[in-house]
Amino acid sequence: MKVKNICCIGAGYVGGPTMSVIAQKCPEINVTVVDLNEKRIAAWNDEDVDNIPIYEPGLSAVVADARGRNLFFSTDVDEAIDKADMIFISVNTPTKTYGIGKGMAADLKWIELCARQIARVATSDKIVVEKSTLPVRTAQALKNILDNTGNGVNFQILSNPEFLAEGTAVDDLLKPDRVLIGGDLDTEKGKDAMQALVDIYAHWVPQANILTTNVWSSELSKLTANAFLAQRVSSINAMSELCEVTGADVNEVAKAVGMDSRIGPKFLKASVGFGGSCFQKDILNLVYIAKSFGLNEVADYWEQVILMNDHQKRRFAANIVKTLYNTVSGKKISMLGWAFKKDTNDTREAASIYVADYLLNEQAEIVVYDPKVTEEQIYADLDYLGSRPDEENRKLVKVVNTSKEACNEAHAIAVMTEWDEFVEIDWQTVYENMLKPAFLFDGRKLLDKHKMKDLGFKFYAIGN
Ligand code: NAD
Ligand code: UGA
Repeated sequence: MKVKNICCIGAGYVGGPTMSVIAQKCPEINVTVVDLNEKRIAAWNDEDVDNIPIYEPGLSAVVADARGRNLFFSTDVDEAIDKADMIFISVNTPTKTYGIGKGMAADLKWIELCARQIARVATSDKIVVEKSTLPVRTAQALKNILDNTGNGVNFQILSNPEFLAEGTAVDDLLKPDRVLIGGDLDTEKGKDAMQALVDIYAHWVPQANILTTNVWSSELSKLTANAFLAQRVSSINAMSELCEVTGADVNEVAKAVGMDSRIGPKFLKASVGFGGSCFQKDILNLVYIAKSFGLNEVADYWEQVILMNDHQKRRFAANIVKTLYNTVSGKKISMLGWAFKKDTNDTREAASIYVADYLLNEQAEIVVYDPKVTEEQIYADLDYLGSRPDEENRKLVKVVNTSKEACNEAHAIAVMTEWDEFVEIDWQTVYENMLKPAFLFDGRKLLDKHKMKDLGFKFYAIGN
């Protein structure tokens, strides 16, 4: 079959960019992205395309190309479901905060709501595509809901996990290492549905990079990929601590190790800890699934990746306190960067939140500068932890518009995000305007150690 109308439920970091690229590459298909969040949809429809709700290099141009032609953003979920031949579910699947599996399992309530809504509305056959990251075997639950509450129409369920990384979403979507499509390979209808989705990606992705598997392999591959990626970061971060006590340099170690073609050079950058909405949640979910099958050794193995990451964030903050003569009470600490990585305005699970919280518990005064994150977001992130009254966060944390303002008269600076512009800062002037000794903690190994020491900074970097 040829798909003419696509609906995507969820206009977030995945739904928005993914559907924009599909619409741009497939002008003959109408793509409607729907969301319950009216503010978000209004932002996607903002006349000024630079005001779309997600900052991603290159995304505004793609949206400008397709929006109003064959790309639409709407809050009318029922209408979009009704019209569509293919429905992507791209809603959030965060860690559960209540009940069984609290703090570990993925919360599937939004997924189930989507399934029930699709079942209620659909009066013609639909291909339903899991775009969200889901526990293995979720497709079975979706099928049960759709078949038992629907109007007797046929639903084919596909798994098509998304591998884009934030900050490079458009590039990743245009040139994916692979597109993964899982479906029912045993029936003609299943194979037809898979082919319909293959045909969409084949508009711009070489056939060799489009991989088809059974649905369970596809669901599990997504959790596995994120677990492997996060494991590399925790592995190099574990080595960074060893480097600091032995005089080895973690960048040199990473380079030497990464030149082994069996290991490879990517994803070996030591840091203050990985953040982002997915690594932690997906590994916790994997741990939960393993435990639920009684596979305790498997669960313990992967849990260690998270424990190492928590340790890395904590020891970075603790080192600041220890180095500043065991007290930061009343001291001004400048945090450069709040986003969980550069080139995104996303702050979910950013290491900066936990480092700031640690320092605030020690009564530090924090000044934050991030080129893309709003003041409102920074306070929301701290308030969400519930460590102190909201007013206290506003009293102790100031958010400013330039790195210069953030660093003036600071006791210490902590580089939290690897924004390119932090390399270009006039560090000489920053040094002159700080209190002495001027402490600089580089959580991203971004700055030239020798240059910073020559300028007079007391300089500490993750992994030396
Ligand atoms: P997000 O929170 O940015 O977006 C999800 C959107 O879905 C929200 O705007 C929410 O309002 C909307 N929504 C929830 N329930 C709805 C409903 N019933 N009807 C209509 N709209 C509804 O989340 P995201 O970052 O785009 O992630 C979505 C999924 O993709 C998650 O499963 C995530 O694990 C996965 N994923 C994310 C990334 C990433 O880089 N962020 C990458 C790959 C995969
Ligand atoms: C990650 C994966 O890279 C994507 O493939 C996946 O689709 C996505 O999760 C998801 O499922 O949500 P993302 O979290 O957007 O993408 O960004 P990454 O580039 O993976 O970075 C994650 C965190 O690890 C960041 O805090 C980053 O600074 C940190 N990191 C990454 C390191 O500390 N060192 C590295 O070498 C790489």
